[in-house]
Amino acid sequence: MELGLRGKVAIVGGGSRGLGRACAVGLANEGTRVAICSRNPEALQQAAREISQETGSEVLPIAGDLSSYDDIKSLVAQTVDHFGGLDILVNNSGGPPAASAQDATEEQWEQAIQLSLLFFARMSREALPHMRRSGGGRIINIFASSVKQPIENLMLSAATRLGALGFAKTLADEVAKDGILVNNVAPGYLETERMMELVEGRARSTGITHEQALTDLNNMIPIGRIGRPEELANLVVFLASDAASYITGSTIQVDGGVIRSML
Ligand SMILES: NC(=O)c1ccc[n+]([C@@H]2O[C@H](COP(=O)([O-])OP(=O)(O)OC[C@H]3O[C@@H](n4cnc5c(N)ncnc54)[C@H](OP(=O)(O)O)[C@@H]3O)[C@@H](O)[C@H]2O)c1
Repeated sequence: MELGLRGKVAIVGGGSRGLGRACAVGLANEGTRVAICSRNPEALQQAAREISQETGSEVLPIAGDLSSYDDIKSLVAQTVDHFGGLDILVNNSGGPPAASAQDATEEQWEQAIQLSLLFFARMSREALPHMRRSGGGRIINIFASSVKQPIENLMLSAATRLGALGFAKTLADEVAKDGILVNNVAPGYLETERMMELVEGRARSTGITHEQALTDLNNMIPIGRIGRPEELANLVVFLASDAASYITGSTIQVDGGVIRSML
């Protein structure tokens, strides 16, 4: 299948590890030039070097905090300055703080609103003029299974990402005629640092071992195991490609069947 990604320009948030890094590798493997952003500059630069060596594509590291609007503006501006345009936005970042619905603090709410709600709107707002100039583009938002069903102790994920989903669906209507397609991906449980921290947190709070918590999680998933980051990246690469030319406003799960809702 011809994906048409060679020479395109992408920004991938949270690209130093986990799902973001897998998406950056997937796009770079198809010849896309990629800017990656995360907070720790050393880890980011190392990731950029490794991805570039592995794929042969240019990878530009731009350190920043994606909960800051100033850093988002600078990320988009530096990417366009460097590569001369922007075609693909993979909106991914750190997850919101773990908290129950009863106990989430003002500070946790504020953090989650910046990182898991406003982030998606700000990135799109900054990118859209450049995509229009390129004659079209792709925006792919990495959400979570919380947009379909609540996750225990991750109320802030559901509360903010459902707002981001409403934003994305409305945006998809507004920009489709400009050739800009907006889709969302809902990961279930994929093996990354954050996921392993959440497994460790559950082991601690329930007094079981990490291995037992991992086994319980694997048993809960119809496919029988947690996923690999590249299993999500494969979908992101497809959605970014010419092959996905008639898909917009959709939310697609990559979850091994774990989400119980019918739609
Ligand atoms: N893994 C899963 O199964 C899963 C499931 C559902 C949803 N998700 C969501 O998918 C996203 C990525 O998850 P992950 O598992 O890949 O997490 P991860 O392994 O913790 O990686 C997060 C990445 O984002 C960067 N980052 C974190 N906070 C940032 C900030 N404020 N500004 C800029 N970069 C930031 C991190 O680097 P620095 O720390 O250096 O900034 C790192 O590169 C999260 O929003 C998570 O909630 C993941």
